[in-house]
Amino acid sequence: MKNVKWQRQKYMPCLPLGNRQTRITECEEHIQLSRRAAAEGAVLLKNEGELLPLDKGVGVAIFGKAQIDYVKGGGGSGNTNVSYVRNIYQGICAKGDKLRVFEPLSFYYREYVKAQYAAGAENGIFDEAEVPADLLEKARAFTDTAIITLCRYSSEGKDRKGDKTDPYFYLSGAERQMVEAVTDRFSKVVILLNVGAMIDTSWFAYNPKISAALMLWQGGMEGGLAAADLLTGDVTPSGKLVDTCAVSLEDYPSTSGFYESDDYVKYTEDIFVGYRYFETVPGKKERVVYPFGYGLSYTTFSIENPAVFRTDGRITVAFSVTNTGKRAGREVVQLYYSAPRGLITKPARELCGFAKTGLLEPGQRQELSVSFAISDMASYDEYGAVAKSCYVLEKGTYRFYLGTDVRTCEKLPYTYELSEHTVTERLRSLCAPEKLDRVLLEDGSYSTPECGPVARKTFPCTYRMAEAPGEPHSLLDVYNKSVSLDSFVAQLTDDELCHLAGGQPGCGVSNTSGMGQLPGYDIPLFMTADGPAGLRTFSGSRLSTTAFPVATALACTWDTELMEKIGRAGAMEVKENNVAIWLTPALNIHRSPLCGRNFEYFSEDPFLTGKMAAAKIRGIQSQHIAATPKHLAVNNKETNRKFSDSIVSERALREIYLRAFEICVKEANPKAIMTSYNLINGVPASENAELIYGILRGEWGYRGMITTDWDNNKSHVKEVKAGNDVKMSHGEPEKLKEALSNGELSREELAVCVKRILELFLWIE
Ligand code: BGC
Repeated sequence: MKNVKWQRQKYMPCLPLGNRQTRITECEEHIQLSRRAAAEGAVLLKNEGELLPLDKGVGVAIFGKAQIDYVKGGGGSGNTNVSYVRNIYQGICAKGDKLRVFEPLSFYYREYVKAQYAAGAENGIFDEAEVPADLLEKARAFTDTAIITLCRYSSEGKDRKGDKTDPYFYLSGAERQMVEAVTDRFSKVVILLNVGAMIDTSWFAYNPKISAALMLWQGGMEGGLAAADLLTGDVTPSGKLVDTCAVSLEDYPSTSGFYESDDYVKYTEDIFVGYRYFETVPGKKERVVYPFGYGLSYTTFSIENPAVFRTDGRITVAFSVTNTGKRAGREVVQLYYSAPRGLITKPARELCGFAKTGLLEPGQRQELSVSFAISDMASYDEYGAVAKSCYVLEKGTYRFYLGTDVRTCEKLPYTYELSEHTVTERLRSLCAPEKLDRVLLEDGSYSTPECGPVARKTFPCTYRMAEAPGEPHSLLDVYNKSVSLDSFVAQLTDDELCHLAGGQPGCGVSNTSGMGQLPGYDIPLFMTADGPAGLRTFSGSRLSTTAFPVATALACTWDTELMEKIGRAGAMEVKENNVAIWLTPALNIHRSPLCGRNFEYFSEDPFLTGKMAAAKIRGIQSQHIAATPKHLAVNNKETNRKFSDSIVSERALREIYLRAFEICVKEANPKAIMTSYNLINGVPASENAELIYGILRGEWGYRGMITTDWDNNKSHVKEVKAGNDVKMSHGEPEKLKEALSNGELSREELAVCVKRILELFLWIE
């Protein structure tokens, strides 16, 4: 039978998407995909004496409550409801006789966690248990191999303090005691970190009593089994860091001002976020424990025969990768460029390409290539060193580095020479700050740019109402091409336009609201659902879905194909449950380890973030489910998130905080985008015409729909005027009507938003 347009939205049928009418939601195939991603996203940080993988049949004593209290992902809208979570202890046990577990110790932790839960403690948020002395000795008599597990939990709406009263970045006193007790007695110690964001790594990196460490992140529902896959060598680690591990929290330039005020954040480090800071500013390299891009393997690789070609404004680097070790494995090869130091301050290196091999057997070789546009190396010239408000390639020598992290890379015997400064794009100043105390420069000094009051640009509405059709038409008539969308919009009353510009109460399995719902015109309710780690359902619906690893873990795979598969699998679950718009991926930048929502975001690097997010969007939209990259933009702190003002230079805004969105728009054409709660240089993102009409629609040519974040306490009238099409979770129809009648808002300004909303509906299958 032929599908009826919007069948799922209209009738909410139970239509399974699998073969022979089987459901694919939380199916075995998706769970295995999740497990694979969790293993591929884990990063092997240390492996002295090749302790890992553990020898077959070896006895292990597993320490730490995290072996039971495993955290599959973070909280809030990025959460998922699952039918089970396999913890690390269970994962190791599932490996049968590959590893022999010292059971009394794990039993002790199981009882401890049970008691904590019974007393009301929540998953991931209670302190470590004390290890009884007799158990410690018995464990030592059983084996000399100890596995220490540690976990962290964080959630939307709350940041981390990062001091000893809120152990997140640092270990708690009880954790430190456990580590000491174990390292004093066991000769072989492995650390497993089940965390959502960067934490202190110096305590194990510099401790000779600790041989191995695996950053597991929060690996979704099969994270425990994925950990066991890595411990036993069933999977060779291939994940690479997407954030820089610094010696201390204070080493991140964002830390000192993070809690300066609830009302604003000053982005004084400017473009020097993450490795752009540590690799550039004098004296900061030494403050890095593990650099960006870093990750070990159980095998070794050589990168050979790099060849560089330049055609059509692009540079392509081809090379081969050979597995020179004794185990099968995958390697990630990264390409960085270094632009000439000149008039505009610059990072020492910037990522411009990467590629991951397939699973290479020992001795096997693969040819790979990466390619990027020369114009991607241009810097935004905010103050007119060469040409104000333009992207500029400065004259001089551009160098390239190919390797396996930002430091371990070889300079290629190829340079790109430019004898004249070249403007690659002429723009105009938009979203500029009115006041910037100071911005960091490449030599570690600060400059105080000249700023002042900014007259924000306006974008007169160019939309013209069409002739209304003679007789009423439904939206299906537009779909069937018997009337144009413009005519359809023209026939809608003001009330109907106002209705469509706001969210509507939801139904079905999701707990976020929907939009549409105008049955007289055959417009069904199009439901939305969260979130990055899988389809998030309303817990009362008792529907469990596949929990994939958190976005940071997925980014550490550096595997865009895998990412696309996860996007597709997640979107199929969304579709099977009659939801149309998926509020993912989340692509804010990891500016500070303190941001409580980092687990939902990919990386400190905008290029990698953009590429991974674009891959996910392609996967999602292959199912005719709308992806919704969020939160546009500069939403890097949760405290007072609805009212905090992100004070940032235009250059950092464009090169760091908007870049990933730009990549998504240009490469993956997301059907929806969500603006953020915060203000950007004094103007709320959702009311920001310069951001939406100026940059997003004007410069990047974005044609899709824009939604607000949920219940953002901003003015619906101003949002419509700025081109933020739909207000969620509900609109302010009365205020819109009043603005229409007093002339503050024109019918055209509202109609063009509604038109974009309807265009999205028409695309949904
Ligand atoms: C979050 C969004 C989410 C929305 C709907 C907001 O609080 O910031 O990421 O999509 O809620 O749940």
